[in-house]
Amino acid sequence: MTASQPLSGASVPEGPILWDLLPDTSALSGDGHLNIGGVDLMQLVEEVGTPVFVYDEDHLRDRCREAVAGFGTGVAYATKAFLCKAMAALAIEENMALDVSTGGEMAVALAGGARGEQLVFHGNNKSSEELVAALGAGVGRIVVDSFDEISRLRALAAAGLTSSPASRRPRLLIRVTPGIEAHTHEYVKTGQEDTKFGFSVASGAAAEAVKALSDLAELELIGVHAHIGSQIFETSAFVEEIAALVPFVIENRFSECCVGGGLGVAYVEGETAPSITQWAQAVHAAASTAGLPPTVRLTAEPGRAIVASAAVTLYRVGTIKKLPGLRCYVAVDGGMSDNPRPVLYGSGYEAFLPRAPLATRPFAARLVGKHCESGDVIVDDARLPSDLVVGDVLATPVTGAYGFAMSSNYNRVLRPPVVFVSGGRYRIVVRRETVTDLLACEA
Ligand code: LLP
Repeated sequence: MTASQPLSGASVPEGPILWDLLPDTSALSGDGHLNIGGVDLMQLVEEVGTPVFVYDEDHLRDRCREAVAGFGTGVAYATKAFLCKAMAALAIEENMALDVSTGGEMAVALAGGARGEQLVFHGNNKSSEELVAALGAGVGRIVVDSFDEISRLRALAAAGLTSSPASRRPRLLIRVTPGIEAHTHEYVKTGQEDTKFGFSVASGAAAEAVKALSDLAELELIGVHAHIGSQIFETSAFVEEIAALVPFVIENRFSECCVGGGLGVAYVEGETAPSITQWAQAVHAAASTAGLPPTVRLTAEPGRAIVASAAVTLYRVGTIKKLPGLRCYVAVDGGMSDNPRPVLYGSGYEAFLPRAPLATRPFAARLVGKHCESGDVIVDDARLPSDLVVGDVLATPVTGAYGFAMSSNYNRVLRPPVVFVSGGRYRIVVRRETVTDLLACEA
Protein backbone atom coordinates (compact mmCIF):
# COMPACT_ATOMS: atom_id res chain seq x y z
CA MET A 1 0.00 0.00 0.00
CA THR A 2 1.12 3.59 -0.46
CA ALA A 3 1.10 6.07 2.34
CA SER A 4 -0.46 8.87 0.34
CA GLN A 5 -4.19 8.35 0.94
CA PRO A 6 -4.36 6.12 3.98
CA LEU A 7 -1.88 7.89 6.25
CA SER A 8 -3.77 9.32 9.17
CA GLY A 9 -2.91 11.35 12.23
CA ALA A 10 -2.24 15.04 12.45
CA SER A 11 -1.58 16.18 8.91
CA VAL A 12 0.78 19.01 9.82
CA PRO A 13 2.48 20.36 6.71
CA GLU A 14 6.21 20.07 7.17
CA GLY A 15 9.05 21.18 4.98
CA PRO A 16 11.86 19.09 3.60
CA ILE A 17 14.54 17.76 5.92
CA LEU A 18 16.69 20.61 7.21
CA TRP A 19 19.97 20.49 5.28
CA ASP A 20 21.90 21.47 8.45
CA LEU A 21 21.03 18.09 9.97
CA LEU A 22 22.79 16.27 7.13
CA PRO A 23 26.50 15.44 6.85
CA ASP A 24 28.70 18.24 5.47
CA THR A 25 29.22 16.89 1.95
CA SER A 26 25.51 16.25 1.34
CA ALA A 27 24.49 17.28 -2.16
CA LEU A 28 21.85 16.51 -4.74
CA SER A 29 22.73 14.14 -7.53
CA GLY A 30 21.51 14.79 -11.09
CA ASP A 31 18.34 12.80 -10.51
CA GLY A 32 17.57 14.53 -7.23
CA HIS A 33 18.82 11.79 -4.91
CA LEU A 34 20.95 12.54 -1.88
CA ASN A 35 24.68 12.18 -2.37
CA ILE A 36 27.10 12.01 0.54
CA GLY A 37 30.83 12.06 -0.10
CA GLY A 38 29.97 12.04 -3.80
CA VAL A 39 28.17 8.70 -3.42
CA ASP A 40 24.50 8.39 -4.42
CA LEU A 41 22.80 6.79 -1.42
CA MET A 42 20.20 5.02 -3.57
CA GLN A 43 22.97 3.35 -5.54
CA LEU A 44 24.87 2.56 -2.35
CA VAL A 45 21.97 0.59 -0.85
CA GLU A 46 21.65 -1.39 -4.07
CA GLU A 47 25.18 -2.60 -3.40
CA VAL A 48 25.37 -2.89 0.39
CA GLY A 49 21.73 -3.39 1.40
CA THR A 50 19.89 -2.01 4.43
CA PRO A 51 20.05 -1.15 7.24
CA VAL A 52 23.42 0.54 6.99
CA PHE A 53 25.29 3.33 8.80
CA VAL A 54 26.83 5.74 6.28
CA TYR A 55 29.55 8.10 7.57
CA ASP A 56 30.83 11.15 5.72
CA GLU A 57 34.59 10.82 6.15
CA ASP A 58 35.32 14.47 5.28
CA HIS A 59 32.85 15.56 7.94
CA LEU A 60 34.56 13.35 10.54
CA ARG A 61 37.97 14.77 9.62
CA ASP A 62 36.67 18.34 9.72
CA ARG A 63 35.33 17.90 13.28
CA CYS A 64 38.58 16.28 14.44
CA ARG A 65 40.52 19.23 12.98
CA GLU A 66 38.18 21.66 14.70
CA ALA A 67 38.81 19.91 18.04
CA VAL A 68 42.58 19.99 17.51
CA ALA A 69 42.42 23.68 16.53
CA GLY A 70 40.37 24.42 19.67
CA PHE A 71 42.25 22.35 22.24
CA GLY A 72 45.58 21.41 20.67
CA THR A 73 47.14 18.20 19.42
CA GLY A 74 46.29 15.26 21.60
CA VAL A 75 42.75 16.39 22.47
CA ALA A 76 41.04 13.02 22.91
CA TYR A 77 38.19 11.63 20.83
CA ALA A 78 35.77 9.77 23.14
CA THR A 79 35.59 6.44 21.34
CA LYS A 80 32.47 5.30 23.20
CA ALA A 81 30.46 7.47 20.79
CA PHE A 82 31.54 5.39 17.78
CA LEU A 83 34.48 3.05 17.53
CA CYS A 84 35.82 0.72 14.92
CA LYS A 85 39.38 0.34 13.66
CA ALA A 86 38.80 2.80 10.81
CA MET A 87 37.49 5.48 13.17
CA ALA A 88 40.41 5.02 15.55
CA ALA A 89 42.82 5.33 12.62
CA LEU A 90 41.06 8.44 11.30
CA ALA A 91 41.15 10.25 14.66
CA ILE A 92 44.83 9.36 15.12
CA GLU A 93 45.64 10.58 11.59
CA GLU A 94 43.96 13.84 12.54
CA ASN A 95 46.23 14.22 15.59
CA MET A 96 43.70 13.36 18.24
CA ALA A 97 44.32 11.05 21.19
CA LEU A 98 41.68 8.43 22.03
CA ASP A 99 39.64 8.16 25.22
CA VAL A 100 38.91 4.49 25.90
CA SER A 101 36.82 3.36 28.83
CA THR A 102 37.14 -0.42 28.81
CA GLY A 103 39.64 -3.09 27.83
CA GLY A 104 37.49 -3.69 24.74
CA GLU A 105 37.70 -0.09 23.54
CA MET A 106 41.43 -0.13 24.27
CA ALA A 107 41.88 -3.29 22.18
CA VAL A 108 39.99 -1.87 19.18
CA ALA A 109 41.88 1.45 19.41
CA LEU A 110 45.21 -0.40 19.43
CA ALA A 111 44.07 -2.66 16.58
CA GLY A 112 43.19 0.52 14.65
CA GLY A 113 46.82 1.60 14.90
CA ALA A 114 46.85 3.85 17.98
CA ARG A 115 49.99 3.74 20.07
CA GLY A 116 49.55 3.19 23.80
CA GLU A 117 50.72 6.70 24.63
CA GLN A 118 47.86 8.09 22.49
CA LEU A 119 45.26 6.53 24.79
CA VAL A 120 43.51 7.94 27.84
CA PHE A 121 42.13 5.06 29.88
CA HIS A 122 38.87 5.66 31.76
CA GLY A 123 36.40 3.57 33.72
CA ASN A 124 34.71 3.65 37.11
CA ASN A 125 35.40 -0.04 37.72
CA LYS A 126 38.59 -1.02 35.95
CA SER A 127 39.62 -4.59 36.64
CA SER A 128 43.19 -5.53 37.54
CA GLU A 129 43.40 -7.26 34.15
CA GLU A 130 42.39 -4.04 32.37
CA LEU A 131 44.91 -2.05 34.40
CA VAL A 132 47.65 -4.57 33.59
CA ALA A 133 46.74 -4.35 29.89
CA ALA A 134 46.75 -0.53 30.02
CA LEU A 135 50.12 -0.41 31.77
CA GLY A 136 51.49 -3.02 29.38
CA ALA A 137 50.38 -0.94 26.40
CA GLY A 138 52.00 2.15 27.94
CA VAL A 139 48.80 4.20 27.88
CA GLY A 140 49.30 7.95 27.97
CA ARG A 141 46.98 8.58 30.93
CA ILE A 142 45.03 6.44 33.38
CA VAL A 143 42.10 8.35 34.84
CA VAL A 144 41.83 7.12 38.42
CA ASP A 145 38.25 6.83 39.59
CA SER A 146 38.06 5.12 43.01
CA PHE A 147 39.96 4.19 46.17
CA ASP A 148 39.67 0.53 45.14
CA GLU A 149 41.43 1.36 41.90
CA ILE A 150 44.19 3.08 43.88
CA SER A 151 44.58 -0.13 45.92
CA ARG A 152 44.76 -2.16 42.71
CA LEU A 153 47.40 0.17 41.30
CA ARG A 154 49.35 -0.11 44.55
CA ALA A 155 49.26 -3.91 44.33
CA LEU A 156 50.38 -3.80 40.69
CA ALA A 157 53.22 -1.43 41.61
CA ALA A 158 54.30 -3.78 44.40
CA ALA A 159 54.29 -6.64 41.89
CA GLY A 160 56.50 -4.59 39.54
CA LEU A 161 53.80 -4.31 36.89
CA THR A 162 53.86 -0.55 36.59
CA SER A 163 57.06 -0.30 34.60
CA SER A 164 55.78 1.29 31.41
CA PRO A 165 57.24 0.51 27.97
CA ALA A 166 57.61 4.29 27.64
CA SER A 167 60.72 5.33 29.50
CA ARG A 168 58.78 7.26 32.13
CA ARG A 169 56.45 6.57 35.00
CA PRO A 170 52.84 5.89 33.94
CA ARG A 171 50.84 9.09 34.22
CA LEU A 172 47.58 9.49 36.08
CA LEU A 173 44.74 11.97 36.12
CA ILE A 174 42.29 12.01 38.99
CA ARG A 175 38.60 12.03 38.05
CA VAL A 176 36.64 14.42 40.19
CA THR A 177 33.00 15.41 40.49
CA PRO A 178 32.81 19.18 40.50
CA GLY A 179 29.20 19.29 41.79
CA ILE A 180 27.71 20.71 38.58
CA GLU A 181 24.15 19.88 37.52
CA ALA A 182 24.15 20.02 33.72
CA HIS A 183 20.81 20.44 31.95
CA THR A 184 20.54 17.10 30.24
CA HIS A 185 18.92 13.68 30.58
CA GLU A 186 19.34 12.16 34.04
CA TYR A 187 21.05 9.04 32.62
CA VAL A 188 23.87 11.06 31.07
CA LYS A 189 24.51 13.58 33.88
CA THR A 190 27.76 12.90 35.69
CA GLY A 191 28.99 16.10 37.34
CA GLN A 192 26.65 16.06 40.34
CA GLU A 193 27.60 14.83 43.82
CA ASP A 194 25.32 11.78 43.69
CA THR A 195 27.19 9.76 41.07
CA LYS A 196 29.18 6.56 40.68
CA PHE A 197 32.00 8.44 38.93
CA GLY A 198 35.12 9.96 40.43
CA PHE A 199 35.94 11.66 43.71
CA SER A 200 33.97 14.55 45.14
CA VAL A 201 35.93 17.78 45.51
CA ALA A 202 33.41 19.21 47.99
CA SER A 203 33.48 16.23 50.37
CA GLY A 204 37.28 16.13 50.50
CA ALA A 205 37.43 12.70 48.85
CA ALA A 206 39.40 14.12 45.92
CA ALA A 207 42.03 15.62 48.25
CA GLU A 208 42.23 12.30 50.10
CA ALA A 209 42.78 10.46 46.82
CA VAL A 210 45.58 12.86 45.84
CA LYS A 211 47.21 12.13 49.20
CA ALA A 212 46.81 8.38 48.70
CA LEU A 213 48.47 8.63 45.29
CA SER A 214 51.29 10.87 46.45
CA ASP A 215 53.27 8.07 48.07
CA LEU A 216 52.89 5.80 45.05
CA ALA A 217 56.28 6.62 43.60
CA GLU A 218 55.95 4.28 40.63
CA LEU A 219 53.13 6.40 39.15
CA GLU A 220 52.92 10.10 38.41
CA LEU A 221 49.75 12.06 39.16
CA ILE A 222 49.78 14.98 36.73
CA GLY A 223 46.29 16.37 36.60
CA VAL A 224 42.57 16.41 37.02
CA HIS A 225 39.72 15.19 34.88
CA ALA A 226 35.99 15.84 35.05
CA HIS A 227 33.08 15.08 32.77
CA ILE A 228 29.80 16.73 33.69
CA GLY A 229 27.46 14.96 31.29
CA SER A 230 26.52 14.55 27.67
CA GLN A 231 24.33 16.35 25.08
CA ILE A 232 24.83 19.71 26.83
CA PHE A 233 23.75 22.77 24.84
CA GLU A 234 24.88 25.55 27.16
CA THR A 235 28.54 26.47 27.41
CA SER A 236 27.72 28.05 30.81
CA ALA A 237 27.76 24.54 32.37
CA PHE A 238 31.38 24.14 31.27
CA VAL A 239 32.23 27.59 32.59
CA GLU A 240 30.91 26.49 36.00
CA GLU A 241 32.88 23.26 35.73
CA ILE A 242 36.13 25.15 35.06
CA ALA A 243 35.47 27.48 37.97
CA ALA A 244 35.11 24.45 40.24
CA LEU A 245 38.22 22.68 38.89
CA VAL A 246 40.76 25.48 38.73
CA PRO A 247 41.31 25.98 42.50
CA PHE A 248 41.91 22.22 42.81
CA VAL A 249 44.42 22.30 39.93
CA ILE A 250 46.29 25.26 41.48
CA GLU A 251 46.25 23.78 44.98
CA ASN A 252 47.85 20.57 43.72
CA ARG A 253 50.18 22.22 41.19
CA PHE A 254 48.80 20.01 38.44
CA SER A 255 50.00 20.39 34.87
CA GLU A 256 46.85 19.11 33.13
CA CYS A 257 43.13 19.88 33.36
CA CYS A 258 40.64 17.94 31.24
CA VAL A 259 37.02 19.14 31.03
CA GLY A 260 35.77 15.87 29.52
CA GLY A 261 33.26 15.74 26.68
CA GLY A 262 29.57 16.49 26.59
CA LEU A 263 29.03 19.11 23.90
CA GLY A 264 25.52 18.61 22.47
CA VAL A 265 24.43 18.43 18.84
CA ALA A 266 21.15 19.27 17.09
CA TYR A 267 19.14 16.14 16.27
CA VAL A 268 15.94 17.79 15.04
CA GLU A 269 14.82 21.03 13.48
CA GLY A 270 14.66 23.80 16.08
CA GLU A 271 17.63 22.64 18.15
CA THR A 272 20.88 24.59 18.07
CA ALA A 273 24.21 23.69 19.63
CA PRO A 274 27.49 25.57 19.98
CA SER A 275 30.22 24.51 17.56
CA ILE A 276 33.36 22.79 18.84
CA THR A 277 35.19 26.07 18.22
CA GLN A 278 32.70 28.06 20.32
CA TRP A 279 32.89 25.44 23.07
CA ALA A 280 36.72 25.58 23.09
CA GLN A 281 36.66 29.38 23.20
CA ALA A 282 34.24 29.36 26.14
CA VAL A 283 36.39 26.82 28.01
CA HIS A 284 39.60 28.78 27.41
CA ALA A 285 37.99 32.08 28.40
CA ALA A 286 36.60 30.51 31.59
CA ALA A 287 39.99 29.06 32.44
CA SER A 288 41.71 32.38 32.12
CA THR A 289 38.97 34.11 34.16
CA ALA A 290 39.36 31.46 36.86
CA GLY A 291 43.12 32.05 36.91
CA LEU A 292 44.32 28.76 35.44
CA PRO A 293 48.07 29.22 34.89
CA PRO A 294 48.80 29.29 31.13
CA THR A 295 51.37 26.55 31.63
CA VAL A 296 48.60 24.08 32.53
CA ARG A 297 47.50 21.98 29.57
CA LEU A 298 43.75 22.49 29.13
CA THR A 299 42.20 19.63 27.22
CA ALA A 300 38.92 17.87 26.43
CA GLU A 301 37.44 14.66 25.03
CA PRO A 302 34.46 15.22 22.74
CA GLY A 303 32.65 12.19 21.34
CA ARG A 304 29.19 13.07 20.03
CA ALA A 305 30.25 16.44 18.60
CA ILE A 306 32.82 14.69 16.39
CA VAL A 307 30.67 11.91 14.98
CA ALA A 308 26.92 12.41 15.50
CA SER A 309 25.97 14.49 12.47
CA ALA A 310 28.55 12.77 10.24
CA ALA A 311 26.24 9.79 9.69
CA VAL A 312 22.83 8.77 8.48
CA THR A 313 21.20 5.38 8.89
CA LEU A 314 19.48 3.96 5.84
CA TYR A 315 16.59 1.54 6.31
CA ARG A 316 14.05 -0.04 3.99
CA VAL A 317 10.34 0.36 4.65
CA GLY A 318 8.71 -3.07 5.05
CA THR A 319 5.13 -2.30 6.11
CA ILE A 320 2.83 0.69 6.40
CA LYS A 321 -0.05 0.04 8.77
CA LYS A 322 -2.92 2.46 9.12
CA LEU A 323 -5.00 2.33 12.29
CA PRO A 324 -8.13 4.33 11.44
CA GLY A 325 -8.70 7.17 13.85
CA LEU A 326 -5.43 6.44 15.66
CA ARG A 327 -2.25 6.75 13.65
CA CYS A 328 -0.14 5.24 10.91
CA TYR A 329 2.85 2.98 11.64
CA VAL A 330 5.73 2.85 9.19
CA ALA A 331 8.03 -0.10 9.97
CA VAL A 332 11.62 -0.43 8.78
CA ASP A 333 14.15 -3.26 8.82
CA GLY A 334 16.10 -2.08 11.91
CA GLY A 335 15.02 -0.36 15.10
CA MET A 336 16.05 -0.35 18.74
CA SER A 337 18.93 -2.74 18.03
CA ASP A 338 20.71 -0.14 15.89
CA ASN A 339 19.32 2.95 17.64
CA PRO A 340 18.27 2.42 21.27
CA ARG A 341 18.41 6.16 22.06
CA PRO A 342 14.71 6.92 21.57
CA VAL A 343 13.65 4.14 23.92
CA LEU A 344 16.44 4.81 26.46
CA TYR A 345 16.39 8.61 26.61
CA GLY A 346 13.29 9.65 24.67
CA SER A 347 15.63 11.15 22.06
CA GLY A 348 14.11 12.76 18.99
CA TYR A 349 15.08 12.09 15.38
CA GLU A 350 13.80 13.03 11.97
CA ALA A 351 13.33 10.96 8.83
CA PHE A 352 13.31 11.63 5.10
CA LEU A 353 13.62 9.84 1.77
CA PRO A 354 17.09 9.96 0.18
CA ARG A 355 15.46 9.50 -3.24
CA ALA A 356 13.77 12.90 -2.68
CA PRO A 357 15.49 14.92 0.06
CA LEU A 358 13.77 18.12 -1.03
CA ALA A 359 10.28 16.62 -0.72
CA THR A 360 7.91 18.19 1.77
CA ARG A 361 6.84 15.88 4.57
CA PRO A 362 3.14 16.44 5.15
CA PHE A 363 2.19 13.04 6.59
CA ALA A 364 2.44 12.10 10.23
CA ALA A 365 3.40 8.56 11.18
CA ARG A 366 5.16 6.66 13.94
CA LEU A 367 8.40 5.26 12.58
CA VAL A 368 9.08 1.88 14.18
CA GLY A 369 11.48 -1.02 13.82
CA LYS A 370 11.09 -4.79 13.58
CA HIS A 371 11.59 -5.73 17.24
CA CYS A 372 9.07 -7.52 19.38
CA GLU A 373 8.04 -4.70 21.66
CA SER A 374 6.05 -1.52 21.44
CA GLY A 375 8.97 0.57 22.72
CA ASP A 376 10.76 -0.14 19.46
CA VAL A 377 10.22 3.37 18.13
CA ILE A 378 12.72 5.30 16.01
CA VAL A 379 10.68 8.49 15.57
CA ASP A 380 7.54 8.79 17.63
CA ASP A 381 5.92 11.52 15.55
CA ALA A 382 7.68 11.46 12.21
CA ARG A 383 6.84 13.69 9.26
CA LEU A 384 7.26 11.93 5.93
CA PRO A 385 6.69 12.59 2.23
CA SER A 386 3.18 11.72 1.08
CA ASP A 387 4.27 9.31 -1.65
CA LEU A 388 6.17 7.01 0.73
CA VAL A 389 5.65 3.38 -0.27
CA VAL A 390 6.64 -0.03 0.99
CA GLY A 391 10.11 -0.73 -0.39
CA ASP A 392 11.28 2.87 -0.06
CA VAL A 393 14.69 3.58 1.42
CA LEU A 394 14.27 5.85 4.41
CA ALA A 395 17.02 7.78 6.20
CA THR A 396 17.41 9.06 9.73
CA PRO A 397 20.15 11.70 10.09
CA VAL A 398 22.44 12.43 13.07
CA THR A 399 22.87 8.76 13.95
CA GLY A 400 26.67 8.76 14.07
CA ALA A 401 27.00 8.79 17.88
CA TYR A 402 25.86 6.09 20.28
CA GLY A 403 23.97 4.19 17.56
CA PHE A 404 26.39 1.62 16.17
CA ALA A 405 28.24 1.94 19.50
CA MET A 406 25.21 0.81 21.50
CA SER A 407 23.82 -1.59 18.89
CA SER A 408 22.77 -5.05 19.99
CA ASN A 409 21.59 -8.38 18.66
CA TYR A 410 18.22 -8.09 20.38
CA ASN A 411 15.79 -10.53 18.78
CA ARG A 412 18.98 -11.94 17.23
CA VAL A 413 18.88 -9.18 14.64
CA LEU A 414 22.16 -8.84 12.75
CA ARG A 415 24.08 -5.59 13.25
CA PRO A 416 24.26 -3.32 10.19
CA PRO A 417 27.52 -2.59 8.39
CA VAL A 418 29.36 0.72 8.65
CA VAL A 419 30.33 2.43 5.41
CA PHE A 420 32.64 5.44 5.03
CA VAL A 421 32.06 7.63 1.96
CA SER A 422 34.46 10.17 0.50
CA GLY A 423 35.55 11.49 -2.88
CA GLY A 424 32.90 9.56 -4.80
CA ARG A 425 33.84 6.19 -3.27
CA TYR A 426 32.65 4.08 -0.44
CA ARG A 427 34.43 1.54 1.73
CA ILE A 428 32.85 -0.95 4.09
CA VAL A 429 34.75 -0.48 7.36
CA VAL A 430 32.60 -2.89 9.37
CA ARG A 431 30.82 -5.58 7.40
CA ARG A 432 27.24 -6.68 8.04
CA GLU A 433 26.95 -9.42 10.66
CA THR A 434 26.02 -12.89 9.53
CA VAL A 435 24.24 -15.79 11.15
CA THR A 436 27.66 -17.39 11.56
CA ASP A 437 28.72 -14.38 13.67
CA LEU A 438 25.53 -14.76 15.65
CA LEU A 439 26.39 -18.33 16.54
CA ALA A 440 30.15 -17.79 16.91
CA CYS A 441 30.23 -17.79 20.70
CA GLU A 442 27.84 -20.68 21.23
CA ALA A 443 29.09 -24.05 22.47
N1 LLP B 1 34.43 11.61 28.53
C1 LLP B 1 33.83 10.83 29.43
C2 LLP B 1 34.52 10.50 30.68
C3 LLP B 1 32.54 10.34 29.18
O1 LLP B 1 31.95 9.57 30.09
C4 LLP B 1 31.90 10.65 27.96
C5 LLP B 1 30.57 10.14 27.67
C6 LLP B 1 32.58 11.46 27.04
C7 LLP B 1 33.85 11.94 27.37
C8 LLP B 1 32.00 11.84 25.71
O2 LLP B 1 30.83 12.55 25.84
P1 LLP B 1 30.13 13.21 24.55
O3 LLP B 1 31.07 14.27 24.02
O4 LLP B 1 29.92 12.13 23.57
O5 LLP B 1 28.86 13.75 25.07
N2 LLP B 1 24.73 6.93 25.44
C9 LLP B 1 24.41 8.32 25.72
C10 LLP B 1 25.65 9.15 25.97
C11 LLP B 1 26.49 8.63 27.10
C12 LLP B 1 27.75 9.42 27.30
C13 LLP B 1 28.69 8.71 28.22
N3 LLP B 1 29.92 9.37 28.45
C14 LLP B 1 23.60 8.88 24.55
O6 LLP B 1 23.36 8.16 23.59
O7 LLP B 1 23.19 10.04 24.57
